[in-house]
Amino acid sequence: MPGRHQGTATSTACANIAFIKYWGNCNPDSRIPANGSISMNLDGLFTRTTVTFDPDLMADQLILNDKPSSGPALARVVAFLESVRNLAGIQVFAKVESQNNFPMGAGIASSASAFAALSLAASRAAGLALSERQLSQLARTGSGSACRSVPGGFVEWKVDACDTNSAAESLAPAGHWDLVDCVAIISTAHKPTGSTQGHALAYSSPLQISRVNDAPRRLEICRTAILEKDFEALAEIMELDSNIMHAVIMTSRPPILYWLPATLAVMQAVTAWRKHGLPACYTIDAGPNVHVITPAQSAEQVAQQLRQIPGVSDLLLAHPGGPARYLEI
Ligand code: PMV
Repeated sequence: MPGRHQGTATSTACANIAFIKYWGNCNPDSRIPANGSISMNLDGLFTRTTVTFDPDLMADQLILNDKPSSGPALARVVAFLESVRNLAGIQVFAKVESQNNFPMGAGIASSASAFAALSLAASRAAGLALSERQLSQLARTGSGSACRSVPGGFVEWKVDACDTNSAAESLAPAGHWDLVDCVAIISTAHKPTGSTQGHALAYSSPLQISRVNDAPRRLEICRTAILEKDFEALAEIMELDSNIMHAVIMTSRPPILYWLPATLAVMQAVTAWRKHGLPACYTIDAGPNVHVITPAQSAEQVAQQLRQIPGVSDLLLAHPGGPARYLEI
């Protein structure tokens, strides 16, 4: 009976860092991106979520990091649960308990791991058995980049003419290439403009059209660099892509400037190190913190040098991570 459905499930998903960024939608309502993107899952930086559909509940509930949540965060989860209920043909409210093991607002998109984990837990708790592709599609509707946290390792979210079934798939498993993301934390303050708002402004920049038109070329170079483990090629395209996205962000109306002085200091240090033979490159999401990517053999040296840059207050390290998965409790 749809009104009495009961079910619970727990899952976990890693955060991810985009090497080729998603910025701007061609359909904002269903988060169909303007361009494809490529990312690496981040092992050890994850969200763990339990969803329980309970006929006794009078409303959906969200417990985030042990605290009851309301406002926009709850509204976003309720909208997501509504689409899961529609898919499953049930009409029962749910309790969502979610925990991140990394600091919120640390320049690591918690929405990616959160909605990937929520897709698995909510769909299973609702009695659905979805394929990886369907789970990725579902995650996308909560947060675009979340679709890339469903498959494992190095992941591509392809875009094909506003395809409503748009979803991500694995390019190579986590064990393919031992890269490390050294996240240089510069500020954990809440971002003034979140990514949902930022995506909506993308086309107000005169540069966004050129950025989107050139995306297939950058994607091809990045894909090949990953498959061939060509760090120099990866480094060059990753920094270019990050700079192009920030150029769009800085020139949108109103303009947004996510960087702080220490952000630039890290960018300049990393490019200088690479010139002198230390393999490292940077990429920056919608915030001031810098993701410095390096092969595992150089991670210790890169981490040690990053710690010495004034303004770097903390460092998180992550190797490539696996797919989102269910936890049997
Ligand atoms: O998924 P969203 O809406 O949080 O957008 C993510 C945007 C970036 O992190 C800046 C880029 C990306 O592809 O992850």
